Amino acid sequence: MPTLADRLKNVSVSASAAMTQRARDLASRGIDVVSLSSGEPDFATPPHAIEAAHAAALAGDTKYPPLDGTPALKAAIARKFKRDNNLDYEPSQILVSGGGKQVIFNAVLATCNPGDEVVIPSPAWISYADIVRFAGGVPVSVACGQENGFKLSADDLEAAITPRTKWLFLNFPNNPTGAACSRKEMVAIAEVMLRHPDVWIMTDDMYEHLVYDDFEFCTIAEVEPRLYDRVLTVNGASKAYAMTGWRLGFCGGPKFLISGISNVNGQNSGGTSTITQAAAVAVLDGPQDLLKERAAIYRRRRDFVLDRLAGIEGLTCHRPEGAFYLFPSIAGLIGRTSKSGRRIETDTDFVMALIDEQHVATVQGAAYGMSPFFRISYATSMEKLADGCDRIAQFCSDLR
Ligand SMILES: Cc1ncc(COP(=O)(O)O)c(C=O)c1O
Repeated sequence: MPTLADRLKNVSVSASAAMTQRARDLASRGIDVVSLSSGEPDFATPPHAIEAAHAAALAGDTKYPPLDGTPALKAAIARKFKRDNNLDYEPSQILVSGGGKQVIFNAVLATCNPGDEVVIPSPAWISYADIVRFAGGVPVSVACGQENGFKLSADDLEAAITPRTKWLFLNFPNNPTGAACSRKEMVAIAEVMLRHPDVWIMTDDMYEHLVYDDFEFCTIAEVEPRLYDRVLTVNGASKAYAMTGWRLGFCGGPKFLISGISNVNGQNSGGTSTITQAAAVAVLDGPQDLLKERAAIYRRRRDFVLDRLAGIEGLTCHRPEGAFYLFPSIAGLIGRTSKSGRRIETDTDFVMALIDEQHVATVQGAAYGMSPFFRISYATSMEKLADGCDRIAQFCSDLR
């Protein structure tokens, strides 16, 4: 038999995708499932993006694109970085790709040699570690505990850096905890990184517009301009503009790094869809009010679910600053037994019993590198959230 490559042995299917699939399977059998597992906005793509895509297609903008992004989109991204982050990037410092995921994948492939270490504050988005392993690198987790608001402490970061460290990855607001760093906290991280001049810093700012209660988002290249030459600032259209299916991510960084990433990008894609790029220009240059309007809706949902969780014995949940996730601890429920007789030893046991018995899909903390927790995505309607919370409460009160 022909075989698959050894490099696949270390790469797993994402647990959130697996849970979403399980929920779909149950639903296709007619079961009423409440899905709180998917990290995807439930809003529609703004109509002006769809109109711009339609117009571009009709106008014949349907040929191979430049490999690193259309001039029009790169100019719009430069304006976005200036407007939202006070960062100056020239077009040669910007790259467009098929989603934030592809940007990060290409960046790691362009920089990591086998054995290079990537420091990942954890819990963290599932794909980081797999992408690093794919490139032959070594993910190094730094625990960001609930007691520290799931944020990265400067001392823990310092202790994790070795002569093999190639990258520090930052992702605040964070998937899966929703934690975001204040300017003061970011300054402390930057101070550590100033002492390590051979380490790149990737900041995944995908959730930058999803912060609540007047919290002010900040990003490291702006907070500490002396790091600007080592920072890759990654962002995209998926979460902010509800454009997950369009596949659009982008980054700004030093020319030398961008040209390396562009090289990889040009080999694993023929550039990003011209239609998608036209839509992205429209949302980046268009009215930005919808970001605040949607953030206000997310904040109400967060507060609603937090309130409900607070009334469930055995769960404790930190109040996060942003994103659309909650990450409750189930420490108080470990060792109990569910209604159908399943013993809850781990957070994986918990989410599996929860979907099978109450048909609520969530994701185990273990998938993000921290237990015993589970991730709830509140990027869904109030009705579904209310139903989901009722079922979680019922599940927990049935535990013996
Ligand atoms: C932290 C984080 N980064 C990147 C991505 C990927 O985004 P995109 O859809 O742009 O590939 C996700 C998606 O869930 C995410 O949570």
